[in-house]
Amino acid sequence: MKSPTPLIAGNWKMNGLANSLAEAKAVAQGVGATQVRVAICPPSILIAQMSEALAGSKVLVGGQDAHADDTGAFTGDISAEMLADAGAKLVILGHSERRDAYRESDALVAKKVLAALRHGLEPIICVGETLEQRNAGKALEVVTGQVRGSLPAELKGKAFAVAYEPVWAIGTGLTPNNPQIEEVHGAIRETLKAMFGEEAEVVPILYGGSVKPSNAAEILHAREVGGALVGGASLKAADFLAIIQAV
Ligand code: PGA
Repeated sequence: MKSPTPLIAGNWKMNGLANSLAEAKAVAQGVGATQVRVAICPPSILIAQMSEALAGSKVLVGGQDAHADDTGAFTGDISAEMLADAGAKLVILGHSERRDAYRESDALVAKKVLAALRHGLEPIICVGETLEQRNAGKALEVVTGQVRGSLPAELKGKAFAVAYEPVWAIGTGLTPNNPQIEEVHGAIRETLKAMFGEEAEVVPILYGGSVKPSNAAEILHAREVGGALVGGASLKAADFLAIIQAV
C-alpha cells in the first residue's frame, strides 16, 4: 500500500501585511531540506511577493480561494489563472468559512476545483461538519457527502488533498480526539477509493482545526492523517515550524 507524502499547509486567512513576508522567509529557512511538503497560503495580494521571496525554497505558496471562471465581470474576485500567474502552486477550496459566509455549495466548490486543474494548481478541498451535525450523529454522512459533491471526476490522476476540518474545531481551541479523527479520515479514504480507485491511497487527507505545537504530534500520528491545514498557528514561524517538525 502506498502512502501519501505529508503536507503541512498554513492558511493565513485575512491576516498579514507586506512585512509578514519575514515570517514566511523564516519558515523557509527553518524547514531546510525537509521531506514534508510545506505550503503557505497568504492573502492573495501577497502571493506574487511571497512566491518571489520563497523561490528555490521548500515552501510552496498557495491561494485561499479561486473563482470558478477564468475571467469576467466578477468584482473583487480572483481566478485560478491569476493565482497561478502570481506564482501559486496550490489553492484551498471550499473552506468552511467560505461555505458559510459566501454560501458556497458542493457544486460550486467542484467547479472551482476544475478551474484549479485547468491552471495546474493543486487543490486542497475542505470538508467538515458543524457541531450540530456531529451531535445529531451525522458527521460521517455530512463529510462523505461533501467529498462526493465537491470532488469532480476530473481529479482522477491529479495531485490534490482533502482537508477534514470540523467546523466546531476551527479557531476554537477544541479538537476531536484521535479516534474521532481516525473515524472520519477512514470514511474519507473509503469514499476517495470508491470514487477514484486504489490510486486514492496517495491522496493526503489533512486534519485542520486548532492544530498547534502542543497537539500536533498526537494528531499527526493518528491513522490516515496525512498532514495538517493550520490557521492561527501558521502566522508565527516558530509555531508553524514546530508543527512541521512534529510530522
Ligand atoms: P485554525 O484554522 O488552525 O486557526 O483553527 C484552521 C483552518 O481554518 O484552516
